[in-house]
Amino acid sequence: MKENKKKILVLTSGGDSSGMNAYIKAMAKLCKKNNIELVGSMYGFLGLIKNDFVKLDYNQMRQVQNMGGSILKSSRCKEFQTEDGFKKAVENLNKAKFDCVVVVGGNGSLRGAYDLMNVGVNVIGVPATIDNDLAYTDLSLGYDTACQNAVCDIVKIKQSMSAFDRGFIAEVMGRNCSDIALKTAIISNADMCITEKVEFDEILKKVEVKTEKGVKSPLIIVQENLFDIDALARYLEHQTQREYRSVKLGYIQRGGEPSNVDKMYAIELAVLTIETLLNKVYGIALGKRDGQMIAENLANVLKQKTVQSNLKYIFDNYCFD
Ligand code: F6P
Repeated sequence: MKENKKKILVLTSGGDSSGMNAYIKAMAKLCKKNNIELVGSMYGFLGLIKNDFVKLDYNQMRQVQNMGGSILKSSRCKEFQTEDGFKKAVENLNKAKFDCVVVVGGNGSLRGAYDLMNVGVNVIGVPATIDNDLAYTDLSLGYDTACQNAVCDIVKIKQSMSAFDRGFIAEVMGRNCSDIALKTAIISNADMCITEKVEFDEILKKVEVKTEKGVKSPLIIVQENLFDIDALARYLEHQTQREYRSVKLGYIQRGGEPSNVDKMYAIELAVLTIETLLNKVYGIALGKRDGQMIAENLANVLKQKTVQSNLKYIFDNYCFD
């Protein structure tokens, strides 16, 4: 018997990350090739509740792969976590009769996918967060671009700092994960990378060791949400009688054209999405481990705890003399 044309829904949720659009474009291309109807849910899980679905047409996606943000918009949808909101979302999904819902996002988004799976919806999770804090996969879409953005900005700021022999503190994003901070620090050849709460006098001691060795413009990278970096700059300025400046790189890291690594990964993820979909394998999250693409059971994905990457080891060996 001839099977009906497949219809799938894709949504982007949580913090946007560069590469989300490249993934949507790659999916649109592969859906066209495989005669699958591709629909997008606007504003992530909120679109499920509001029945806000749009047909995605590959022919209207010129250059989309080069854009940051998400053409489907995103949200951190609190309503989806309420009983009423969730019920409404499932009702709308059942009415629309999708073969599968593809959830593109980070930890919270994959949890949302898992909740849908538990009420019988076919789901596939795609890792997209600049934080790179999903334990089951070595790489999340947007992480590479975020590091590249941070490094590019620090190169520029370093030139200005060096002109004045000023010290410089840069705070990067990453939530509770130190990957962006460490990778940025290694590539920028930072003098310090702070990834946990520490007293200012401890930082001062390390800075003094560096300046005794002749470093005139110490560069300190700080993971976000640890302490007030402006206060640290004032403290160091006062204690060392040397000028310090501080800057939060913030959302600059999230936007912009994806790196080639993220563009390529978006395509690899789309190829695997279609493959698993055609094989009717659902309830999984896709990713990459040791260079190989993987599809892992969603229940296992959510149980895994983040382990320290080898970036700390590289930083300790490379950036300290
Ligand atoms: O999870 C991605 C991220 O950019 C974090 O690094 C950061 O802490 C957070 O999102 C910022 O969230 P919002 O976009 O809600 O301000």
